[in-house]
Amino acid sequence: MKRILIINGPNLNLLGNREDDIYGKDSLDKIKSDCEKKGKEKNVEIIFFQSNNEGEIIEKIHEVNDKYDGLVINPAAFTHTSIAILDSLRANSKPKIEIHLSNIYAREEYRKKSITSEGVDGLICGFGGNSYLLGIEAICNLIYK
Ligand code: DQA
Repeated sequence: MKRILIINGPNLNLLGNREDDIYGKDSLDKIKSDCEKKGKEKNVEIIFFQSNNEGEIIEKIHEVNDKYDGLVINPAAFTHTSIAILDSLRANSKPKIEIHLSNIYAREEYRKKSITSEGVDGLICGFGGNSYLLGIEAICNLIYK
């Protein structure tokens, strides 16, 4: 079975209790179980990971080449700052999709630039928790193309 890693960046562990007008009322655990359900439908294994630590996220991305068939990543605030995460994405040869709950292009100026999206195959944003499910659809299309 193909294995898809979903990485979640800083503060996403607070979902449900964090600016719910922007990010919705679902907790990260609820999004995780929705993703696992979607994985069953698509016949892929979903491995879910969250960290508030840039180095841990980079080390997880390093594992993708050997251990996973594709990556879906919500780098959260690191999206707008992290050349180090961009470099680790570029060093990875597996299909990769960046996702965001909110439409980062309809928000503050400092969120309109995604540094990390320069290292992925495509970007999905603005669909709330559904961005994750669309990300799984998109990564499956890339893996099976
Ligand atoms: C986010 C958007 C980022 O700008 C923000 O820092 C987040 C969440 C999203 O999913 O909409 O933490 O990645």
